Amino acid sequence: MENTHKLVIIVGSVREGRFGPVVASWVADQARAHGGFDVEVVDLADVEVPLALPAVSPKFAGDDYPRPAGMEPLTSALDGADAFVIVTPEYNHSYPASLKAAIDWHFTHWTAKPVAFVSYGGAAGGRHAVLHLENVLTELHAVTIRDGLAFPNYFTAWQDGQPLDPQAPGYAKTLLDQLTWWAGALRSAREAAPYPA
Ligand SMILES: Cc1cc2nc3c(=O)[nH]c(=O)nc-3n(C[C@H](O)[C@H](O)[C@H](O)COP(=O)(O)O)c2cc1C
Repeated sequence: MENTHKLVIIVGSVREGRFGPVVASWVADQARAHGGFDVEVVDLADVEVPLALPAVSPKFAGDDYPRPAGMEPLTSALDGADAFVIVTPEYNHSYPASLKAAIDWHFTHWTAKPVAFVSYGGAAGGRHAVLHLENVLTELHAVTIRDGLAFPNYFTAWQDGQPLDPQAPGYAKTLLDQLTWWAGALRSAREAAPYPA
């Protein structure tokens, strides 16, 4: 469909026994029901993301950047995306190292594209993680979406793969409406002229 945008949902945690895939699966259902997106979920646990980076920055290396073969599904998903939802927990008042590594292996893939956040954790619902992500993604010329979803004390707030808060689908719709608007606006802008990064 011409007006459908490619949405990539990233599962940021790779920990054994993690909760991230439950949240990502629900977000993917909301996005498919929304209708504005062609949805792909990329789970970082399925991708090779080493901590040791090459000598040069991906900012300057272009397509020749020496990424491992096992990173290709992530790189091509990021490349083809019109919009992102990052699903992140909170680890020590920030986001997981797996997510930072995945971000740092790429640069232009994020540029002039919108990113929304769905977070979960203890009392703060992952908001510390999202604040840090907003900062980092601004450096990559991404556009972060104001209205995110945060699930505090997720261990009591979810049941059978669904959030118990009856307002959660409405909040998700607001996030997805804003993401669609930005995805369309930024895709048109990217097609009209190269972003002056
Ligand atoms: C290393 C580590 C640090 C954590 N730090 C925080 C924290 O600062 N704030 C918080 O709300 N929860 C914290 N938690 C709890 C996580 O939010 C919770 O374990 C969550 O399930 C992690 O997401 P995951 O299951 O997808 O890995 C921490 C968990 C781990 C493993």
